Amino acid sequence: RHPGWPVRLGPLTVPAGVVELRPPRLFDGGAWSRIRIRERSHLENWEPSAPGSWEERNGVLAWPSQWSALRSLARRGQTLPFMIMVDGVLAGQITIGNVLRGSLRSAWVGYWVDSEVTGGGVATAATALVVDHGFRQAGLHRIEATVRPENAPSIRVLTKLGFREEGLFRRYLDVAGGWRDHICFAMTAEEAGDGLVGRLVAAGRAHHS
Ligand code: ACO
Repeated sequence: RHPGWPVRLGPLTVPAGVVELRPPRLFDGGAWSRIRIRERSHLENWEPSAPGSWEERNGVLAWPSQWSALRSLARRGQTLPFMIMVDGVLAGQITIGNVLRGSLRSAWVGYWVDSEVTGGGVATAATALVVDHGFRQAGLHRIEATVRPENAPSIRVLTKLGFREEGLFRRYLDVAGGWRDHICFAMTAEEAGDGLVGRLVAAGRAHHS
């Protein structure tokens, strides 16, 4: 069985509201699709390209196959996928992906947040929760995040949490229809110390609900 899965993380209170993370559910489709269709211009420049139109990939009919793919990857121990809830309402997703075991024990983290609640600490809180969980219950040693140099808010999320810049990956990922440079940020378990959530709380950026 996959260590650290399934699980709910939080709650953690930030200026935007109470942040909780839980596994995806089949009945998330309606809310997920409504946000994703509305948020196309907020999301499209930062997410990997995929076949089909935005409407096809994010319509309510696209959710069951996405949900079942996430669920089977999670059951196999390759992914930890979470829905981000703010005050009990779906507000984004955060995923630990490409989990490699053995002597790497490494993974990436990726996230998006509904623009109606951005700027209020949601992505920072969600990332702190999944990184702490990844290093503890899920047994990871290194978590990386790759981000386009143009994506200032996401770079801010990572640097606020203490992620270290490792370098520039040239023409790394097919995003918004082209091979885009990405900055690689990473953190190891040693660097997370007693935990990122504890640091956010100590800095007054979040509190336990
Ligand atoms: N320039 C610099 N900093 C900015 C800017 C800007 N233009 N806009 C916002 N910020 C800052 C905010 O002030 C805040 O920092 P602060 O707490 O010091 O004030 C920080 O960026 C954002 O932190 P949060 O509020 O925790 O993050 P939020 O909940 O707003 O979500 C996110 C950020 C996820 C990047 C959101 O904007 C989003 O979903 N964007 C579209 C999708 C995306 O880019 N996903 C990330 C891809 S990269 C990856 O997944 C590793």
